[in-house]
This record gives sequence, structure tokens and C-alpha cells, in this order.
Amino acid sequence: MRAAIEAARRARGRTSPNPWVGAALVRDGAVVAVGATAPYGGPHAEAAALANTDARGATLYTTLEPCVPFEGKRTPPCSEAIIAAGVARVVVGILDPHVGGQGAARLRAAGVEVEVGDGASEITVLLRPYLRFRASRRPYVIAKFAVSLDGMVGAPQAGVRWLTGAAAVERVHQDRSWVDAILVGSGTVLADDPALTARPGGTAADRQPVRVVVDSRGRCPADARVFGADARTIVATAAASPRAWKESLGQRGVTILELEEDATGINLDQLLAALGQRGVVSLIAEGGPTVHAALLAGGLVDEVHAYIAPKVLGQGIPLFPAGTLPSPVEFRDPVVEPLAPDVLVRGYTGTWSP
Ligand SMILES: NC(=O)c1ccc[n+]([C@@H]2O[C@H](COP(=O)([O-])OP(=O)(O)OC[C@H]3O[C@@H](n4cnc5c(N)ncnc54)[C@H](OP(=O)(O)O)[C@@H]3O)[C@@H](O)[C@H]2O)c1
Repeated sequence: MRAAIEAARRARGRTSPNPWVGAALVRDGAVVAVGATAPYGGPHAEAAALANTDARGATLYTTLEPCVPFEGKRTPPCSEAIIAAGVARVVVGILDPHVGGQGAARLRAAGVEVEVGDGASEITVLLRPYLRFRASRRPYVIAKFAVSLDGMVGAPQAGVRWLTGAAAVERVHQDRSWVDAILVGSGTVLADDPALTARPGGTAADRQPVRVVVDSRGRCPADARVFGADARTIVATAAASPRAWKESLGQRGVTILELEEDATGINLDQLLAALGQRGVVSLIAEGGPTVHAALLAGGLVDEVHAYIAPKVLGQGIPLFPAGTLPSPVEFRDPVVEPLAPDVLVRGYTGTWSP
């Protein structure tokens, strides 16, 4: 199962809206083949591990329950492939809510021995975004921000715009390279003009997350870097925002989503539902205080990544000014990662659990 989990980890973020799954075929105690889910429409992990290998009488370890036939399916069902290959035993990490136990049942009915639960807690953490997406049809949301010890996200008037060092920046690029989308508000585009691309190790990743900007009134200039050709961009705006602005973004290849407004701005519930429909399984919100407060107050955040810089600014833009959150947010299962000179504190919010 260790080999299957590592294969799944390498496929993370490359398979949406499918889950990232790993599989390992074992004979006489040795791993003879490993497979991982290919990008959408390509072979699943089990099929990849079984390809060109004599699997008769062997054991197949798979991180997620094998799939069964369903309408509209683009790939042959893995449960049938496993039966046809003559696999004797299948060890499944966790059941797939989309398959609902039918994969395990199909295998057992065909005389294959099935065990469920090996590595389940580690696999559940790895697949959290997919499990969230399956449960709600909307992306798993990670709220990411950098903050000083006195709770500021920056102090532009004192010339402080970037708070964290190289290790934290690299960690952000690693995360950007597996998520499907990055969300910011118009305030961040206007203040920082970020490109919002994934550049792990300083090099543009081969697969870029889609950038999502909430801008209800058409304030972001059409020549902002976030609208450049290095990645796709979606702008969520109100129907009433200027037509000429929408047209100039359209000419740059930007997709315009017209959504309803609520007290916070663009209706973020609607936005997440629309992104889910487009197959966005995971999203990092990298906005400023306004977007983070709206997401947290709306109960829309699943995980928080707080990068804490060892600085006291004594002035600047506070992350959560008093009164912006209706109730305290406590992280569950917090993890502290030292990224010298900074520290990353991450944890889950209480809104959803797999
Ligand atoms: N340290 C960090 O991690 C970090 C990260 C990013 C930014 N920043 C800093 O934060 C500052 C910008 O803060 P900000 O709060 O203005 O940025 P923001 O949260 O990225 O953008 C806020 C704007 O987004 C638009 N918006 C539309 N719908 C919204 C909704 N439902 N909820 C919230 N916002 C919505 C609103 O403007 P419209 O009226 O135009 O729709 C709103 O004013 C800058 O100084 C920047 O440098 C710091």
C-alpha cells in the first residue's frame, strides 16, 4: 500500500475531476507493477498497474475502491478489468463515495477476496479535496495568507508588501502546482498585480491552475498580469459591470462569469458551485483580508494555511479587523511547519470532515 500511496501522491492535482489514485500489484511479497490515475479520460490506476503484467493469482493494492460501469463513463470499469486479469485478492484503502461499495461488491461476487481499510487515515488526508468535491459538488477551499506577528498582511505605506522568505514562497508554489484554481479579489490585483502562476523551483509548472478573480464592478485593469496568457483566468463579476471592460477581458481570453451579488460582493456560494461544475476540485484562496473574511464568515473554508513572518509592523493592513468574523475559527488537527525564517500553521476548519 505504501507504493500505491506514493503513486497516488505523484498524481495529485493531475486527474480532476477524477480522484488521484495509486495501485500496486504484488506477487510473492514483491511489487511487480505500479500505476497511477492518468489525466481525465486516460486509464485509471488499477488499469495502469495491470497493463502488460500477468496478474493471475496476484494481490492488487489500490488506494481507492475500484470503479464500476455507470452512464457517461469515459474509461472501462476497473472492477471488470481486475476480474478479467485473474487477480486473487484486492486490498482497498478507502471506499469511493461515488462508487458506494459497488466496486467491492462486484469483486466479491466474482470470487475475488477483498479487504478494505489498509492505510485509510493517510489516504483520507491525501484525498480530502476529492472527497469534499464528491460530497458537495464544490471545490475544497484552502485559505492561505501571510501575516506578521501583530496580525498585519502588509504595510504598503511603510514599503512592506511581501512578508515571507524564500522557503515559504516555494511552499506556496508547490501547493499552487497541484490545486485546480487560485482565487483572489480585485483588491489584491489592484495592490500587487500578481501573476498567480505556479512556479515551483522558479520554473513555470507544466500544468497551471486556473486563476479566479472576484471583481464585482470591473475595477481590475485589462492589462493586469493575472489576465496574461500564461494560464487561464475566470473573472466573477456582476451583470451590471461595464460591458466594455468585459469585452476587453474577453479579447484577452478571460472567461467572464456573471453572478449574483450579496452583502459581501459576488455571491461566493454561487461562484464555488460554478467552479465545481467546471471540474475544479481544489482551490487556494490567496486574496486579501476582504476575501478571506467573506469566505470564513460564509463557512466556505475547509483548510487554513497561515504563514507567520517573524516581524512586527506596528502599522498596516490588519488580517481580520475586529468585527469581520461572526465567531472565532479554531483549527482542527493543526500542523506547524518551520519554513525558516517563517512558520506555516495549517489546520482544518470545523465546517466539513470526510
Ligand atoms: N499577506 C497576504 O497574504 C496578502 C495576500 C493578498 C493580498 N494582500 C494585501 O491585501 C491588500 C488588499 O486587500 P483586499 O481585502 O482589498 O483584497 P482582496 O480580498 O483580494 O479583494 C477584495 C475585493 O474583492 C472584491 N470582491 C468581490 N466579491 C467579493 C466577496 N464576495 N467577498 C470579498 N471580496 C469580494 C471586492 O471589490 P469589488 O468591489 O471590486 O468587487 C473587494 O473589495 C493589499 O494591500 C495586498 O497587498 C496580502
